[in-house]
Amino acid sequence: MPVIRFVREGRDVECYPGENLREVALRERLELYGLKGQLGNCGGCGQCITCFVDVVAEASPGALTPRTSVEDRKLRRRPEGWRLACQALVQRSLVVLTRPQAGLSDREVRLAAARAEPLPAGPTAWPATEEPAAAEPTGMESTATAGEASEEGPVGG
Ligand code: FES
Repeated sequence: MPVIRFVREGRDVECYPGENLREVALRERLELYGLKGQLGNCGGCGQCITCFVDVVAEASPGALTPRTSVEDRKLRRRPEGWRLACQALVQRSLVVLTRPQAGLSDREVRLAAARAEPLPAGPTAWPATEEPAAAEPTGMESTATAGEASEEGPVGG
């Protein structure tokens, strides 16, 4: 499974390939939003521009799906590594900094440490699931047709 290393929070979080980065962060109760986004955000529609993350390292290129056209428009004046978490699907392990516009003490030290620790490459597909076991007979199924049942008649008569 891909691992998302959240530098600000100091946490590594596993997710399934193809999961939405914003949804993973919210599921893990990580604070993705600054004050403006906390007061009101678009809920993941790519409209409020408050779910910034800075992608500071990837296990391999293409850890996130490519920028969407929404991101191309909304992030025109932002650093190249920034993404809108709500628009990005996780494909491989990566390191991100949430709320990159906000201050972070020891920022460079923490970024360097997060980059230095190896990331697992992660799969690029959903884990295989086992086929469900064949249904056990319940004894309620009727194998005889109505015509067969009427031909048998009463027993011992
Ligand atoms: S949640 Fe509004 S742009 Fe991402």
